[in-house]
Amino acid sequence: MMARVRSVERVQQAYATIEGAGVRLHRAFGYEDVPLFDPFLMFDDFRAGTQPEDYLAGFPWHPHRGIETVTYMLEGKIEHGDSMGNAGSVNAGDIQWMTAGSGIIHQEMPKPVNGLMGGFQLWVNLPRSNKMMDPRYQEIKQHQVPVVTPQPGVEVTVICGTVGGVKGPVEHIVADPEYLDITLLPDTGFLHKVRAGYTAAAYVIGGKGYFGDGSESFSKNRDMILFGGGDSIKVRSSPEGVRFLFFSGKPIRESVAWGGPVVMNTPEELAEAFREYRDGTFIKKKGTTG
Ligand code: CO
Repeated sequence: MMARVRSVERVQQAYATIEGAGVRLHRAFGYEDVPLFDPFLMFDDFRAGTQPEDYLAGFPWHPHRGIETVTYMLEGKIEHGDSMGNAGSVNAGDIQWMTAGSGIIHQEMPKPVNGLMGGFQLWVNLPRSNKMMDPRYQEIKQHQVPVVTPQPGVEVTVICGTVGGVKGPVEHIVADPEYLDITLLPDTGFLHKVRAGYTAAAYVIGGKGYFGDGSESFSKNRDMILFGGGDSIKVRSSPEGVRFLFFSGKPIRESVAWGGPVVMNTPEELAEAFREYRDGTFIKKKGTTG
């Protein structure tokens, strides 16, 4: 059977915004885009310049419920601590896949290393049946993340999913996602199979590339590309090469009630979450790290 290459449904450039206690970052999609990227809710690019005051205020204590937050660092680090006494840092090349489930309260504080700090945070929704699951961390260090070369000129860092028979370290995620960091050398073509019916998107972080079948306009740094239906994606790099993050996942197709760091199905569940946060009964279960 012929592969059905996904077309490009939409390209949107990440826009500058301020989050947390005053962190300057770029948001590629978020609240206004629901349900376009379902099961994904938000994608923030916090690659910073050389001014630490743009991010040092960080993301002080805040709760999460009903979602997963995925932090992938390229440079610098995020010092992380939570209400259950877990503490550590997400360093360059590391991934923290945090399943908030029924609830965690944490803080995330970006710090420079050799003057540099940058990374990404993706929010993945949980379906009704899993919103109140036990919280869990998957703390993945850079050396645990395989880098594969499925063909000459293509290098893929496999955070979650399987490429060239090599499986990434993040496992057992409800949305059955892939999360890949892909570099194509100049003038290189790449075809990657993606399950039909799954949402698929790419975010360019360096160079330029042509996405989709027969695309004649290139995408550049901070472009978020949402693919249409099909069973594979096709990318061709420009003469300068391209680096992009790719993710896919199974859509949830449920109602979304979103209040800041908490995402539930109904306004009543949101109100309950914030009432519990005020009353000190928000945390249901101590998280596990794996
Ligand atoms: Co958070």
